[in-house]
Amino acid sequence: MPTEKNCEKNCALKKEVIIPLDFSSAREVFDFLALFPQGEKPYVKIGMELFYSEGPEIVREIKRRGHKIFLDLKLHDIPNTVKKAMAALSRLEVDLCNLHTAGTIEMMRAALKGLTRPDGTRPLLIGVTQLTSTSEARMQSELLISASLEDTVLRYAKNAKAAGLDGVVCSPLEAARVKAACGKDFLTVTPGIRFAESSSDDQVRIAAPANAREMGCDYIVVGRPIIAAGDPLAAYRRCVKEFLPI
Ligand code: C5P
Repeated sequence: MPTEKNCEKNCALKKEVIIPLDFSSAREVFDFLALFPQGEKPYVKIGMELFYSEGPEIVREIKRRGHKIFLDLKLHDIPNTVKKAMAALSRLEVDLCNLHTAGTIEMMRAALKGLTRPDGTRPLLIGVTQLTSTSEARMQSELLISASLEDTVLRYAKNAKAAGLDGVVCSPLEAARVKAACGKDFLTVTPGIRFAESSSDDQVRIAAPANAREMGCDYIVVGRPIIAAGDPLAAYRRCVKEFLPI
């Protein structure tokens, strides 16, 4: 069950631009973060590449530097294993972490139990629905899921809600339907963001930051358009301006 502390965070639903630190070494991460002036601490995402390369200490160090952290390890295993792994992650004091909703409602409930600390607090927990790199044709032909991609994402989101999760990762194109089905306080965290003129890379279901805002996304995760830009700081600020206009 969400704690009061989580509810405060969750119900406020402050919109955020999250930068994935998709690097393989601490050196590259710190060089990247050094591009930001002292008072500007972007919300960052630590994914598998960095976590598996540098281990939990990189999480502690980035936290010490004052950043909010989304730990994106996409857990997916039997309920007992996920529960124990989540208990270990809860001690890292991250703000947000995730799992694959395909692991079933039972697995998600076990994850929440593991993540909840003895004092009742826990990081927010969201579920990955279908990866934004997956097209409907691939999902249907390779995974034999005959429903539409949107209906599949919606079903995963409803399962996540039933299990007590705080939200889902989905494409911006699905955010409005997820909100309509699961409630306005159910977080939608959306990768697959590209500036109007950027390449889509390997992402398939994409939107620009301003469209993502119109579609009701709460947090957008913007990687290559920022970290591979000639001027990453300017690209980040442009993203914030387009997603959160004052
Ligand atoms: O560079 P790009 O903007 O495509 O980066 C997207 C980030 O979001 C990557 O770190 C990727 O692992 C992550 N992600 C995703 N799709 C999901 C969940 C996470 O692209 N469904």
